[in-house]
Amino acid sequence: METYAPLMKIDKLDKYFGGLHAVSEVSFDVHPGTIKAVIGPNGAGKTTMFNMIAGFFPPTSGSVRFNDVMLTGMKPFNVAGQGLLRTFQNLKVCDNLSVLDNILLGHHTRSRSGFGAGMLSTRKSRIEERRAVEQVMPLLEWLSIVEMKDTLVGNLSFGEQRSVELARALAADPAMLLLDEPAAGLNMHETEELAGRISELKAQGRTILIVEHDMSLVMDISDEIVVLNFGKKIAEGSPAEIQNNEEVIRIYLGGSDA
Ligand SMILES: Nc1ncnc2c1ncn2[C@@H]1O[C@H](COP(=O)(O)OP(=O)(O)OP(=O)(O)O)[C@@H](O)[C@H]1O
Ligand SMILES: [Mg+2]
Repeated sequence: METYAPLMKIDKLDKYFGGLHAVSEVSFDVHPGTIKAVIGPNGAGKTTMFNMIAGFFPPTSGSVRFNDVMLTGMKPFNVAGQGLLRTFQNLKVCDNLSVLDNILLGHHTRSRSGFGAGMLSTRKSRIEERRAVEQVMPLLEWLSIVEMKDTLVGNLSFGEQRSVELARALAADPAMLLLDEPAAGLNMHETEELAGRISELKAQGRTILIVEHDMSLVMDISDEIVVLNFGKKIAEGSPAEIQNNEEVIRIYLGGSDA
């Protein structure tokens, strides 16, 4: 793992919300083709880290480099254009659009004429639209949501809506995915399917940074784990190292959350 240069370098990332120090000088690397998990108690700053990485708000200080490009200061759309896509802790899908249209929104991140041009009914954009549909259909098959492609997303089960959100991110063909609690609200069967799919994404060569409270999922799929507590990184290592870290057990793994 260490023989490859990191795909992402997070350097002393720091965030204050007024007087609240939500993320405190957190640094770590993510190596290409690996799964890294960020764990820690509620309010530890995990989602805040994701929001800074993906450009939803700027850090107070510190930087994020991705593929040797400085992401700090970029807007979410431009971060996505670099090949870094995310999903949300509080699922964000368009309820009143079909499954297919939700997923095509993700594809527009990579289509050359962009979303605006895609709206124009020119011959070229109709051809591109057809090509986009062809390109995303295997994703719908992979996530077992083909039969629902014309269904409004608001009418799907929660687990299916989570699959739509994942498909929308993957439709942009990202090199790296940020998944914020992808198993939250899923039943045991859906969580097992998700674990298999995340491992498949890794096998395809994608890099994954995941925030998750489901410890069996995290310990199962992660190559490395970072532990946050009150905004600070308190540990980093392999699943075995983290499971045997006394401070982590005391603060997080040993508690009622585990
Ligand atoms: N936009 C914001 N404005 C003000 N405070 C915020 C904002 N976002 C998060 N916070 C605060 O920052 C701290 C870290 O929150 P964050 O959502 O990053 O935690 P988390 O580790 O993702 O927790 P959880 O496991 O519950 O999702 C919390 O105290 C939270 O209330
Ligand atoms: Mg969170």
